[in-house]
Amino acid sequence: MEQIKVSTAGNKAEVYRELLPQLESLVSGENDFIANVANLSAALKQALPYASWVGFYFMKEGGLVVGPFQGKVACTRIKIGSGVCGTAAASKKTLIVPNVAEFPGHIYCDPDSKSEIVVPLMKNNEVVGVLDIDSSSLDSFDSVDAQYLEQVAGLVGSLFP
Ligand code: SME
Repeated sequence: MEQIKVSTAGNKAEVYRELLPQLESLVSGENDFIANVANLSAALKQALPYASWVGFYFMKEGGLVVGPFQGKVACTRIKIGSGVCGTAAASKKTLIVPNVAEFPGHIYCDPDSKSEIVVPLMKNNEVVGVLDIDSSSLDSFDSVDAQYLEQVAGLVGSLFP
């Protein structure tokens, strides 16, 4: 079993540049989608010290249903257009929320969450889910996270059955 190693002294972009090939290697050679996204959520949580919750929601029966994640127990179902996850899914765009208290309709799964990023997962131009990362600090996510997490989302989209 390979372990994830990133230099903690690196800046965000360096951490992601070290991490991405490891994520690709983690899922190569395994075709079980749930196993792969479960390990991806663990790897992201391990590598990003500012992440308090990392996980996936997938489209089912017209809404988002929680998938593999790392962190506290989360809301099971989110409607499209609701909360940060449902808004990102509806708009097909990455959403960075520096302060969740200021996002109208934000869904509090974890009362410690202060900032959040949600990246849509796309397959054949359709939203198949979202990657959601929360932080217990304000303003944890920026365009560097968005840029690299969109690559992670691309990887997940390519694995989606
Ligand atoms: N805060 C999210 C709900 C999911 S949890 O953060 C895990 C939202 O507003 O959609």
